[in-house]
Amino acid sequence: MYVLITGASSGIGMELAKLYAKAKYDLVLVARNKDRLDHLASELKSENIDVIVKPFDLSDLAQCDLLFDEIKSLDINIFINNAGYGNLGFFNETQEDLELNMLDLNIRAVQVLTKRYIQHYSTGTVVNISSMAAFLPTPTFATYAATKSYVYNMSRAVNYELKRQKSNLRVLTVAPGPVKTNFNQRAKASINRGMDQVKCARLIWKGIQKRKDFIIPGFLMKMVYLMTKFTPTKLLLKASYRIQTNK
Ligand SMILES: NC(=O)c1ccc[n+]([C@@H]2O[C@H](COP(=O)([O-])OP(=O)(O)OC[C@H]3O[C@@H](n4cnc5c(N)ncnc54)[C@H](OP(=O)(O)O)[C@@H]3O)[C@@H](O)[C@H]2O)c1
Repeated sequence: MYVLITGASSGIGMELAKLYAKAKYDLVLVARNKDRLDHLASELKSENIDVIVKPFDLSDLAQCDLLFDEIKSLDINIFINNAGYGNLGFFNETQEDLELNMLDLNIRAVQVLTKRYIQHYSTGTVVNISSMAAFLPTPTFATYAATKSYVYNMSRAVNYELKRQKSNLRVLTVAPGPVKTNFNQRAKASINRGMDQVKCARLIWKGIQKRKDFIIPGFLMKMVYLMTKFTPTKLLLKASYRIQTNK
């Protein structure tokens, strides 16, 4: 039985791969950087599992389709759409081509791969990694936060449809708060704070094992989530602007 993880070459995806390898699942690892994937694969093979490396740029829809065609004969029980990135900056200053590429990876790839999976497989779980940023408009991270709102809303709604259809498929949604990974460096944030990536992956893993519909890793972030439900958007914007402009 295979677990496929996109964005497995670093951060949360890499830690999830290590956890599933320890639990003796076979793995399909996807990201752009083949060397990093090969290195991880050779480390994980010591667990006597099959590890397949698929170096693809998922911001290109044609490559999403190619990936799916290459893996659809495998018994993939868990498909984790984890690859994603953000780009910090004021909307009138950030690079448009980067933002459009972010939409392609954070939204279009997740959309297409979720659809392909639930149309092809009759049982299994898609896990879509959203973010706490999904729950509040986020100045200086406007586009990123909006992509994660899309992932959140699409994934929760599709999961509900599947339940009502009495399907054996599920789409789980994960909304991590800040995690110390390469994400911050790629987003051009000057600080790298948050939950440890190993801890975050462990909490996600537990949520997936329990087949939770929605996973927020960590008590603090669960409280923040509740707060976003009861705080006026005007106040949330003020708080989020202050946090973001200190990054
Ligand atoms: N870290 C946080 O604070 C945080 C908080 C909430 C949500 N998240 C979400 O968690 C997920 C994982 O992020 P992370 O924190 O683990 O960051 P990370 O360490 O930067 O990992 C991102 C992964 O995505 C892959 N990736 C990036 N662009 C890709 C592309 N075009 N095609 C295929 N793979 C690509 C990267 O590999 P290559 O560079 O080799 O392609 C890498 O393996 C993301 O969706 C992120 O939005 C992160």
